[in-house]
Amino acid sequence: MNYLTLNNGEKMPQLGFGVYQIEPTQTADAVYEAIKTGYRLIDTAAVYGNERETGEGIQRAIDAGLVTRRELFVTSKLFILQAPFDRAQATIAHSLATMGLEYLDLYLIHQPYGDIYGAWRALVSAQKEGLVNSIGISNFKSAKMIEFVGLNQVKPQVNQIEVNPWYQRQHDQDWHQKYDVQVEAWAPFAEGRQDLFKNPVLQEIGNQYHKSVGQVVLRWLMQRGIVALAKSTKPERMAENIAIFDFELTKTDMAHIAALDLNESAFFDHDAPEQVEWFMQRMQDTESN
Ligand SMILES: NC(=O)c1ccc[n+]([C@@H]2O[C@H](COP(=O)([O-])OP(=O)(O)OC[C@H]3O[C@@H](n4cnc5c(N)ncnc54)[C@H](OP(=O)(O)O)[C@@H]3O)[C@@H](O)[C@H]2O)c1
Repeated sequence: MNYLTLNNGEKMPQLGFGVYQIEPTQTADAVYEAIKTGYRLIDTAAVYGNERETGEGIQRAIDAGLVTRRELFVTSKLFILQAPFDRAQATIAHSLATMGLEYLDLYLIHQPYGDIYGAWRALVSAQKEGLVNSIGISNFKSAKMIEFVGLNQVKPQVNQIEVNPWYQRQHDQDWHQKYDVQVEAWAPFAEGRQDLFKNPVLQEIGNQYHKSVGQVVLRWLMQRGIVALAKSTKPERMAENIAIFDFELTKTDMAHIAALDLNESAFFDHDAPEQVEWFMQRMQDTESN
């Protein structure tokens, strides 16, 4: 596993395992299997509804002697809140209690909406108390990230954003490098959209090294210096996705992949009114539960 050093000196595994859209009933097994396969970064979120089971999978792996807590890098995320500071503090405590953990390695503001400044003060205070080692943001566009860094004394260690062959975001990465905020890619496979796993350019590159499309995509992100989160419930794919540290893409391969960029999200734009409306509805649903 390769590790990157964040702007606070903490080390972060460059490849991680995400549990979004894994059914709670399957999550503990998936997390245990991922750790057994060699993943050390585990990414969940309060809104995924599987924090408890993620914690169970982690505990099972520790109990089995596969790994120590210190060897793992566990992330969760704060969903949008109507009354941020107190609620954010309570939500961090709730995530820790639900997962059965004494600390998290990374805690992120999940979406760029609402009183992100109030929420940030709660994250900074949790970091000072040692409840979370690193803190960050997610789904912030570069302009918003720059404003956020400019208006806060403590800057985020990480911004978790969509990056995949259809939405490569080189320009965004350049801005994040300038501000020393680590880019972490969600949906590196674009969840398979636009037939990603059958793309002939990616297939042809993979054939040269006897590697799959998934492996080529993850390797491309490693070589760009981006942290990548892959998700699979299938043990053979978990193993496939982590076997990316024994080959190297050439400049020509990288250029061929760069040419695939559509420069548009494979999912949605966080500034689109209908999308913001959807998130506001989702916030109200989670607040009333
Ligand atoms: N911050 C955010 O707003 C945000 C948003 C989305 C995701 N995330 C994080 O990023 C993680 C990854 O994103 P994602 O799960 O949305 O999408 P993804 O990793 O791009 O794609 C996952 C899909 O690809 C399939 N797959 C995985 N490896 C494969 C392989 N080697 N060959 C063929 N198919 C393969 C999986 O199917 P099987 O499971 O059937 O193998 C699954 O359907 C999430 O789990 C979550 O932790 C964060």
